Amino acid sequence: MTQELQPDFTLEHIFDNMVELPTFPKVVQEALKMLDDPNVTIDELAEALKYDPSITANIIKMTNSAHYGLPQQVSSVETALALLGHNQIRQILMASASLPYLTRPLYGYDVTPDKLWAHSISTAIISEVVAEACGVDAGSEYFTAALLHDVGKIVLHIHVGGRLKEIATIASQEKITFPEAEWKVLGGDHAVIGSELLRIWEFPNDIVRAIRCHHDPDLYVQRKEYAVVAMSNFISSQLGIGVGSDAFMNRVSPGIMEALGFTRADYHRVVVQSIQKCVKAKDLFMLYQEVA
Ligand SMILES: [Fe+2]
Ligand SMILES: [Fe+2]
Repeated sequence: MTQELQPDFTLEHIFDNMVELPTFPKVVQEALKMLDDPNVTIDELAEALKYDPSITANIIKMTNSAHYGLPQQVSSVETALALLGHNQIRQILMASASLPYLTRPLYGYDVTPDKLWAHSISTAIISEVVAEACGVDAGSEYFTAALLHDVGKIVLHIHVGGRLKEIATIASQEKITFPEAEWKVLGGDHAVIGSELLRIWEFPNDIVRAIRCHHDPDLYVQRKEYAVVAMSNFISSQLGIGVGSDAFMNRVSPGIMEALGFTRADYHRVVVQSIQKCVKAKDLFMLYQEVA
């Protein structure tokens, strides 16, 4: 290894400056807490959300996606919330609040806004299929972790954007994955950085850890819930949805099949169902266009 490739502990610099990033919308954090309270009514929830016009607009658009299969189109948050189940409301709140973050161009990763959003939302949709196939409760936590799993790339783009080309060059020259090249250059990867951001944003520990693990085979094989997110990311990349410069280098440990309890036949069935679900949800993929 040459001197220039020694980690320079840029990671500490990034952590120190992470607080400069915009925080996750408080209105959505509050709404998610309200959902946990059985005494809170849908009207109270809608009331809390209606002062954020961009989030309410996104909620209505997402609710009308074929993915949620409602019998009628909705035009108000009240109706949307009344027709959706709790898990669906959580998913839509998370996706509505995340849309502005996940539609940024990441030049070093060769990722345009449409690609980052497509990769994120498809990984979230696929996580429902993987979770169901391996018999874990397909609650909203996998969806959230899968949706935000690459949020660390945004942090890297902001803080060390100029060095991402260097990382890409090392990855292609040494035929290693992008996260492996990130470790070489920065002393950490976007999974570590993204999980730290979500910890600062006060997300639940399970979500923080699932994101932390998504490129670390020693960690993600230890819990089925973490393996769900890693596998969903892998399938999304293999399907070529929203791929950037690193996508086809993405690998998973053979141990992930055992962690999920999957046979080869299970895996193939999950891939087919993932394609079907993503095709059905194609209107969700187009939402990147709505962000100014
Ligand atoms: Fe990743
Ligand atoms: Fe990813």
